[in-house]
Amino acid sequence: MKFFLDTANVESIKYFADMGLVDGVTTNPSLVAKEGRNFEDVIREISEIVDGPISAEVLSTDVDGMVREALELSEIHENIVIKVPMTKDGIKATHILANKGVKVNMTLIFSPAQALLALKAGARFISPFIGRLDDISCSGMELVVAVRDILDNYDFECEIIVASIRHPLHVVEAARLGADIATIPPSVMEKLFNHPLTDVGLERFLKDWSNAFKK
Ligand code: G3P
Repeated sequence: MKFFLDTANVESIKYFADMGLVDGVTTNPSLVAKEGRNFEDVIREISEIVDGPISAEVLSTDVDGMVREALELSEIHENIVIKVPMTKDGIKATHILANKGVKVNMTLIFSPAQALLALKAGARFISPFIGRLDDISCSGMELVVAVRDILDNYDFECEIIVASIRHPLHVVEAARLGADIATIPPSVMEKLFNHPLTDVGLERFLKDWSNAFKK
């Protein structure tokens, strides 16, 4: 399973990339806005840190605008993947971009039907938003199961990015269901490390060692 970092924060990306934990990065307008920096500068900097797919999202909502922005963003680095929202214009733009060899990550996927449309249009990545489904009492993980089934039935060249991850269990469940990628916010990545028994165990090892050799 690949780990992407779901952030536009360059420091966090460097921090986890140094541990070999970052196979790619996903950003969205909200995440870039939070950094208060120039969009293209951020994407360029991320591309220099991580050697893997970097998702940059278009802001236009019409087909021509999406395609124009996508082509401009693609110029930044060969690893740029264009995030396109799941709308009719987004589907048409995805079809056009796929034919031009531009990789699309179709975002804001909330149903298996939407996932199927994205696959048909030629998306190379699809992003089911599981946390936002859980927020409205729908099972995000059931969507991942359905999308996995669909992909396993055919030979679409597409990977599932489980997105809108809120806690470590989301990551573990996504892995157990065979999702290709989890895109993880830095705060959740931190939590993946933690177990109280690890801390207690290490403390005890060091104490026993020091007691034994103090004598
Ligand atoms: O990758 C999508 C993600 O950024 C959305 O997460 O927590 O805003 O639903 P969230």
